[in-house]
Amino acid sequence: MHAQIQLVAQALARAERILVITGAGLSADSGLPTYRGLGGLYNGHTEEGLPIEAALSGPMLRRDPALCWKYLAEIGRACLGARPNAGHFALAELQRRKPGCWVLTQNVDGYHRAAGSPVQRLIEIHGELSPLFCMDCRQRSFELAEHLQRPLPPRCDRCGGVLRPPVVLFEELLPEAELGRLQTQLALGFDAVLAVGTSASFAYIVEPVLRARRGGGFTAEINPQAGELSAFVDVHLEGGAADVLPQLIRHISSDKI
Ligand code: OAD
Repeated sequence: MHAQIQLVAQALARAERILVITGAGLSADSGLPTYRGLGGLYNGHTEEGLPIEAALSGPMLRRDPALCWKYLAEIGRACLGARPNAGHFALAELQRRKPGCWVLTQNVDGYHRAAGSPVQRLIEIHGELSPLFCMDCRQRSFELAEHLQRPLPPRCDRCGGVLRPPVVLFEELLPEAELGRLQTQLALGFDAVLAVGTSASFAYIVEPVLRARRGGGFTAEINPQAGELSAFVDVHLEGGAADVLPQLIRHISSDKI
């Protein structure tokens, strides 16, 4: 593992444009549940006998907001109750040292921002949990934490409409602005792509890795388990994000940059 970490560190040190793709596995080390795999939220059905993908979908939020909110609140409480870990801080440090380093995250916990990743180089492709906005009158700026203390679903104090977070639910489209930023950066190309703690269940997560590979770039993955991406990356670091990322950054000494 040590030699492999050095290999990845050298490749990142040489690269100018770096894309780090993160998923639930990164925040698993903060104590949050992942979606798939070990301890995953999606491994079974909800108490109502629904697949979690149906409970956490855009159509369900409109049809039965209380049911959808039951699971949104579960994710919200977990995120509010934990904090960024050494992996998030290591990535923020990498971005400080490498002005061409971007983070593309599927996580809605906001931990990259909390750890100091610059918003200009952060793409939150599945949105964020706060602030809530009203689905009827679109009024914004309702804090999630405040509403989690009250009966669910949360309601707008102006029109009584149901509030929701600006996250991407199942069967919903990705946010156009974030997608546009991602496409612009992908078109500029990346010298290296590092995927951290993701099962890579979506085409827009796999594509940047394949694209970098086709273009002769370096690709690596940090994940304790082999998955979708493992066969396509140059190096698979089989470990936890909060353990491996700080080691990786330590190996990228400032004189190599
Ligand atoms: P998943 O839950 O699908 O995958 C988590 C990955 O993290 C798995 O590959 C695990 O092996 C790995 N993992 C577990 N512990 C880890 C650790 N300590 N360090 C590193 N890796 C670890 O999560 P995502 O790929 O992020 O979307 O899933 C993406 C999306 O699935 C979520 O954003 C959500 C869900 O559908 C929406 O809600 C739209």
